[in-house]
Amino acid sequence: MARRLLRRGEARGEIVIPAVPGMLDEYVQMCSKVFATVGSPFTPEQLAHLRTALESQLTQAYQATQRSDIIISWHTPVGTALNYHIQPRAKTIAETYDDWIATREPPLFGTQPDARVWDLASEATDPKQFSILDIGAGTGRNALALARRGHPVDVVEVNEKFVDMIRQEASRERLRMGLIQRDVFATSTEDLDDDYDLILLSEVVPEFRTADQLRTLFQLASDCLAPGGRLVFNTFMAAHNYTPDESVIQLGEQMYSRIFTYAEMAAAVADFPLEQVSDDSVYDYESTHLPEGGWPPTGWYPEWVTGQDVFALPRELCPIDMRWLVYRKQA
Ligand SMILES: C[S@@+](CC[C@H](N)C(=O)[O-])C[C@H]1O[C@@H](n2cnc3c(N)ncnc32)[C@H](O)[C@@H]1O
Repeated sequence: MARRLLRRGEARGEIVIPAVPGMLDEYVQMCSKVFATVGSPFTPEQLAHLRTALESQLTQAYQATQRSDIIISWHTPVGTALNYHIQPRAKTIAETYDDWIATREPPLFGTQPDARVWDLASEATDPKQFSILDIGAGTGRNALALARRGHPVDVVEVNEKFVDMIRQEASRERLRMGLIQRDVFATSTEDLDDDYDLILLSEVVPEFRTADQLRTLFQLASDCLAPGGRLVFNTFMAAHNYTPDESVIQLGEQMYSRIFTYAEMAAAVADFPLEQVSDDSVYDYESTHLPEGGWPPTGWYPEWVTGQDVFALPRELCPIDMRWLVYRKQA
């Protein structure tokens, strides 16, 4: 009787979920459970067909960008079998942050500059003589604070609205900053100087997709740093005894947490005149060194930097961790 009752009902729904091709089994299981719940259990043949359709759409979405979903829409009309439709949806990084600006409460990334960045810049006795390039500056949390301290600061940022925000704030406070709106990978480095004392990327390398992009970053640092200048960035690193598989890398990308191994990092920097000078846990460094009231910078930060957005595990069991890496260009 319950089955007959459901047969006379009508149901429809939509599931929007990040595209991680390596987790195909999870999507098939989820659809199978949902469809059975609304009275349309799938046969093994139907599930095999669903699996093939999901696989192709997941791959297409994931290849397009690391901010991609698949949308599974389904409908059970009265007396007819369930029909479904799967569609990929991909956003660029710039579009993702347009959504953040439209839907989230500011401050999006916190109000204080990063302690690691501030400490490196503070080593300069005369800020005016210590120039800084902030790549992926976002709302200018670091760039504006450094410019207020007196550093010459240039910014490369792909999102136009973020660049406008920084421009407005800089103009209000009469800060002189160089603002370049573009993808850091898009063109050559001709619009940048070749003698920065510090190049920083905070919360940006987790947006990278490939180890080749790491190489491009090290090339940029080699071309644009003054001798003795430093490159600092934070990045998710796999523990030394752990090699993430494809599905971990893919889920990491979707969770703003692209993971690299120490071997990949060493290979990427190998051809450049850069030596690594430090490697610190972001959680430990920031929670210890941020000024009173500055920790955590946002509600999501502690879980994110400890890898818990990828692994639903206690911090000490997570095999990835966000690290501050600092490299010095040889004199
Ligand atoms: C998570 S936000 C961090 C913003 C800022 N660095 C901070 O820590 O407050 C990442 C920023 O990097 C920018 N971004 C990501 N990939 C980029 C690229 N390839 N070129 C330029 N900017 C990029 C994004 O638009 C975004 O503003």
